[in-house]
Order: sequence, then C-alpha cells, then structure tokens
Amino acid sequence: MECEIINERPVDGRCSSGEVCVQSAPMAANGGHFKSEGNRASRPPAMYSDPSTIVPPASLSELIQTLHDVFAHEDISIEYVQTLMASYKSNPREWKKFAKFDKHRYTRNLVDDGNGKFNLMLLCWNEAQGSSIHSHANSHCFLKVLDGTVKEEMFEWPENCDQAEAMDEDGDEADRKDGSNSGMQKRDESQIVKNACGYINDDIGLHRVENPSHVDKAVTLHLYSPPFDECECFDERTGKHTTAKVTFWSKFGKRTPFGRHRNVPISCTTEAENN
Ligand SMILES: [Fe+2]
Repeated sequence: MECEIINERPVDGRCSSGEVCVQSAPMAANGGHFKSEGNRASRPPAMYSDPSTIVPPASLSELIQTLHDVFAHEDISIEYVQTLMASYKSNPREWKKFAKFDKHRYTRNLVDDGNGKFNLMLLCWNEAQGSSIHSHANSHCFLKVLDGTVKEEMFEWPENCDQAEAMDEDGDEADRKDGSNSGMQKRDESQIVKNACGYINDDIGLHRVENPSHVDKAVTLHLYSPPFDECECFDERTGKHTTAKVTFWSKFGKRTPFGRHRNVPISCTTEAENN
C-alpha cells in the first residue's frame, strides 16, 4: 500500500448538510491529505481541495463524476472528500437499484470502481445488523449515511497487536496472534445520522458499525481508497484477530455469483462482511 497520511486532527463533526454528525471519526479539518495510487504527481486544483468551493452534487451520478475528477489527482484532501460526500442529499430513487438486503447479514454492493482508485459501495443493514470490529487494510474509509442512522463504536488497537504486522499480507496467521487475553479497549461510541459522513483509517483506530434500530433499515455509502479485499477482524473479548475476505453481495446492481454460492465468508463470525 502506498497511502501516506499527513496531519490528521480530530474535530467535532457538523456536516455541510447542516445535520449534526455526532461521531468520533476526525473530519481532518486542517489539511489531512493522502496520496492516491497510480496518479502522476499533481496538486489538485483549488476546486478539488478547498471544501468551501463545493457545490452540492445534484444527484448520485454527479457525486460519482466529481469523485472521479478528485481522484484523478495524486493529492487527495480528506476533508474535501468527506465534505463532498456529506453535501450530497440522499435520494433513494437514485440508489435504490443498488440497495440489496439479506435477512442474515448486512450486504456490500459495489456501485462504482473508481477507475481503480477507489471503491464506492452501498452497505445495506437490516434491523440490528452489524459488523465485527475491524481494520481497514491501510485504506481510507469514508462512510456516509443514506438512510436511517448507524452506530459507530471506536476501539484501540489491542495491546501486543502490531498494527503493521496485522496488515502484512505475507504474515503467518498463527504468528500474528499474540496469545494475550487483553481484550479490546472501547474508546468511544457515537451515531452518524442521515446525510452525515464519517471517516476512519488504521491510524485512527478500529471500529464496529451497526444499525441500532430494531424497526428501521439503514443504508450507508462507503468510499475506500485504495480498494481492498481483505481486512483484519477482532474478537472483542480476547483482542485476537483473523483475516477476513471481503466480498460483494452485488456489483452494479447485479447479484454476484461468488456471493450466491458462498453466503457466509469463512473467517470472521456470522457477521463477516467487514469493512
Ligand atoms: Fe469500517
């Protein structure tokens, strides 16, 4: 991975949608940037780095086009992307075709592959469905709520768990388990409301996301850069981690054959679609 985190700073979240986003994830309001892979070195024009210049996208298609334009440059402003995603006013008519629910687990549904620079996907959460505690494979994760409200619990990396080692793709699973019983340290808990957008990466910590409602479904829009297909998930009680493959329930509105044949990924409990 060639991501480089520069200057993260947590701030309270009031998104440009005007809704209060009570969240622990920092909004990187003071110059958080990262390098997008595969692009020639270029500074983005001010229109893609200064959030005050953002004109809210009129549609999901317009949001996706602007994201393509932003990620065509090497230097990515976290605050810009986060504010841009928050500024899109959720319209179910525009994303309904991607929203596929499964009664047993939450689903990941690819919307756009971002020219290889990012993956944009809808996650669909039935009542009370949630993820396990997970990392993000050294990727950058933006999470916008399109419908409902989600709860985000933040955790510290477990003691004796080498973060770099946990993300070593060549590492031996047995070697990486530390054998301790230290458990997971919960740092914070918050809710992200409709249209607000959170952000997390592995330097910030680990998280677990769930739909806390037993009545309403929730839908979230996630952008990951760079894309990844594996992450680490953690046992809250012991802090031990295992590698989980992340899969798509559907791509571009069509059910994926992989998902049809292997509904439950192997590695990571019954709620294994971590991201
Ligand atoms: Fe996540």
